[in-house]
Amino acid sequence: METKTTISMLLLCVLLSISLPAVRTDYVRPQPRKNLQFPWNPKHPSLPQQVHLSLAGENHMRISWVTDGKSAPSIVEYGTSPGEYTLSSQGEATSYNYLFYSSGKIHHTVIGPLEHDTVYFYRCGGQGPEFQLKTPPGQFPVTFAVAGDLGQTGWTKSTLDHIDKCIYDVHLLPGDLSYADCLQHRWDTFGELVQPLASARPWMVTQGNHEKEKIPFFTDAFASYNARWKMPFEESESASNLYYSFEVAGVHVVMLGSYTDYDELSDQYSWLKADLSKVDRKKTPWLVVLFHVPWYNSNYAHQGEGDGMMAAMEPLLYAAGVDLVLTGHVHAYERSKRVNKGKSDPCGAVHITIGDGGNREGLAQKYVHPTPEWSVFREASFGHGELKIVNSTHAFWSWHRNDDDEPVRSDQVWLNSLIGSGCLEEKTYESRKILFSP
Ligand SMILES: [Fe+2]
Repeated sequence: METKTTISMLLLCVLLSISLPAVRTDYVRPQPRKNLQFPWNPKHPSLPQQVHLSLAGENHMRISWVTDGKSAPSIVEYGTSPGEYTLSSQGEATSYNYLFYSSGKIHHTVIGPLEHDTVYFYRCGGQGPEFQLKTPPGQFPVTFAVAGDLGQTGWTKSTLDHIDKCIYDVHLLPGDLSYADCLQHRWDTFGELVQPLASARPWMVTQGNHEKEKIPFFTDAFASYNARWKMPFEESESASNLYYSFEVAGVHVVMLGSYTDYDELSDQYSWLKADLSKVDRKKTPWLVVLFHVPWYNSNYAHQGEGDGMMAAMEPLLYAAGVDLVLTGHVHAYERSKRVNKGKSDPCGAVHITIGDGGNREGLAQKYVHPTPEWSVFREASFGHGELKIVNSTHAFWSWHRNDDDEPVRSDQVWLNSLIGSGCLEEKTYESRKILFSP
């Protein structure tokens, strides 16, 4: 009888452990928050709005902003002391129409050469408020803030407030920015929402599905995104704003497009192969890749959506010895072991899904069971990540959950780069040949 009861209890425990979600159970996950309200706040037509920065080639930055007035100049004046603008740069401007919406004048002006790790004061369009930026360091340590799928809700604000409190050099955003979804004024309100952070540190972004606003016969897929968030694609010899790379301190960062062609005959594939084959690990010991749709995802949300891109491009990333892949799309957090071809592999990349910036669609809370062997940590909460690359071999990753509006470090790990691991040696790594084959 006793044996029978014990077996029944064991069975019950097994059943419970299968049905319980493998996420923290002592934390009550908050509900989605509503979109923020942005009161109409007209500005003088020449005054800059939606100011944001991006890295634009070695020692240069691009300053982007919008004016309502079409005659406002695309000039940036800057210097290292407040109010003393000893330098200036002239840029270019663009605009676009989307059905009945006409954008303001969108200015893009590259400044530099700039000193590393230096505060600059600047002014856009020859008038208006003074902004302040800090350039990234020229060597380790360097820190990245990471948050994807931001949107513009109360949770977005909470995430941005937490990032604002952290000391970082560059913001990385793996897609889904404004959740404008064809309502173009939302691009403007998003630009205003992120300006306090994005005018002070470079924001390096790639596109998600919410940037794809194609209306057949009327509009291009990424018309708004490309006009507003110009990234250094020309500087990295890419033909498209949808994929590019940049280097900061000792890190080579590749930004890929999940929503543009990625097969072996595509421009993106050719560009990626060429870009990865040029990476000099002595100069940039760390190799990091971002795109929107995760390849390693054990959440039910968007299950399998990344399989096509993974089949095409994972061999290139593996051959190049990518250390870390950061993705979004799934509104939850997940960190993998080093993986390749769907399973653990000490020479593969660590994949982190961080599509939990705070958008209006809420969290993705259903997970696949049992947990795949490659998945180390998964939790459906809003939050942001911080990646501090300490030196050529060590980096510290942490994920900070938005816990009742207080950032709580919920996952953390020391990462080792593949430098010195043996994985990058030609002799032991046959697959590296794929990078150099014609
Ligand atoms: Fe998405």
